[in-house]
Amino acid sequence: MKIAVSGKGGAGKSTVAANLLYCLKSRHIPAFAIDADPDANLGLVLGLDPEKLAAVPPLSELQEVIAGKNAGGGAFVSLNPHVEDILEDYVLHDGSIRFLKMGGIKQGGSACYCKENAFLNAVLTSVLLDRPEAVVLDMSAGIEHLTRGTARGVELMLVVVEPTRAGVTTALAVERLASDLALPRVAFVGNKVRSQADRDFLLASLPRERILALLPFSEAVLERARQADRGSFGKEDLIPGIEDIYQQIGGGGS
Ligand SMILES: Nc1ncnc2c1ncn2[C@@H]1O[C@H](COP(=O)(O)OP(=O)(O)OP(=O)(O)O)[C@@H](O)[C@H]1O
Ligand SMILES: [Mg+2]
Repeated sequence: MKIAVSGKGGAGKSTVAANLLYCLKSRHIPAFAIDADPDANLGLVLGLDPEKLAAVPPLSELQEVIAGKNAGGGAFVSLNPHVEDILEDYVLHDGSIRFLKMGGIKQGGSACYCKENAFLNAVLTSVLLDRPEAVVLDMSAGIEHLTRGTARGVELMLVVVEPTRAGVTTALAVERLASDLALPRVAFVGNKVRSQADRDFLLASLPRERILALLPFSEAVLERARQADRGSFGKEDLIPGIEDIYQQIGGGGS
């Protein structure tokens, strides 16, 4: 299962990603949890220890490592530096889950543009195309970490969408970006649905055949988000209906 989760800010990307990761973890399935949102908060939503979390460096900031991976490259950047060691050294283990932070992608104009982006791309290539573990990528609406190359390894992009006009507009924009990258499969997941009016709105606003599920608003989920120390994510923190999604998208285990 290699999945990316995208959608508008606040739609519930990290929550849905954390829910799917819990489904994997509770079945002892090895998986990478990748926070690829520059405004990183997947670790918090997963309830990882804040101190340990703070010690995990965003990969884009590993200046010396990145320079070393490209040593001798001069003006040329190695497009495929070996990064297996990174997947051991800069991850936080949580049962069968390995958590890592990508950090921001550098935009054009920066002197380090090529080597940093080549490095992040190599990490994504490794986890998405080479490694056997499941992957859940928590992304911003910009999905800027993906390229045509790495997008091939994403079996499914879930676009989380709240029942608002702005939510739908962003979700459709993400779908266009995904299709530009030739992502094999994109599906919408409605979230925070409170009423029949919410359901009707989403069903009328999105392509029906691509709506995977409509998840309810859950007081319990919001209550957890208010807590300063959330503790480890548990069964009681799941959004009702997430197990169905997990099964539908081919998550393994029983
Ligand atoms: N089904 C739900 N029911 C109730 N609250 C929810 C639900 N899904 C998400 N939330 C709450 O909505 C808020 C935003 O969720 P989350 O952080 O997962 O969104 P996000 O898309 O990752 O946001 P960001 O763009 O800031 O990273 C959180 O407080 C979360 O607890
Ligand atoms: Mg988030």
